Amino acid sequence: MPAESTPSATCLFAAADERATGQLGAQLAAVLEPGIVVALIGNLGAGKTRLVRAVAEAAGVDRREINSPTFVLVHEYEGRWPIYHFDTYRLHDASEFVDLGAEEYFHSAGVCFVEWADRVARVLPADHLRIEITTTGDTSREFRITAFGPRAARVVERLGVGLAGVGKWDQGPGTGDREAGFGVQDSG
Ligand SMILES: Nc1ncnc2c1ncn2[C@@H]1O[C@H](COP(=O)(O)OP(=O)(O)OP(=O)(O)O)[C@@H](O)[C@H]1O
Ligand SMILES: [Mg+2]
Repeated sequence: MPAESTPSATCLFAAADERATGQLGAQLAAVLEPGIVVALIGNLGAGKTRLVRAVAEAAGVDRREINSPTFVLVHEYEGRWPIYHFDTYRLHDASEFVDLGAEEYFHSAGVCFVEWADRVARVLPADHLRIEITTTGDTSREFRITAFGPRAARVVERLGVGLAGVGKWDQGPGTGDREAGFGVQDSG
């Protein structure tokens, strides 16, 4: 499967609190494009659902509609584009995900978010955005955002520009502690 193609761009966003995660979600909403698949990876409680909620709200979805998808495979929201929010935690394997019609969603004009995407990595489209979330403290999280393929790379590029406006950039090692840091690395 082509899912593990070479990453074209990586960036890091350090969120000190949920508000900062919300800002990342809002910026993502501003730069995502229909057809993109976002693979979310991170432990229980890392903030995968929280991030999707922030994106959906910023894309115009009524916050009361947004649920944690723990007991259903997919939630669908109507925002600026359709949002398909999957939780694969309870699936046995990737083929079960395919049997449930995942590929039709991937090829639709919506934006797909896949929680526990590492469990279904082999069926993700080659061109996708990976967001790995690490819990770094009670309220702090680190988001490592990696583009696989040209469409995802465009998103990362625009995201860097958008988050520059948020004001907190991590210019690399030695810049000291910051509330929210963002840095783009050329991993090509
Ligand atoms: N900076 C932060 N960003 C996101 N969530 C945060 C942050 N700080 C604290 N939290 C808390 O962490 C929890 C994240 O929960 P969430 O449901 O999003 O996790 P999840 O990764 O989807 O877990 P699961 O695998 O169980 O679905 C929430 O209770 C949220 O309030
Ligand atoms: Mg969740």
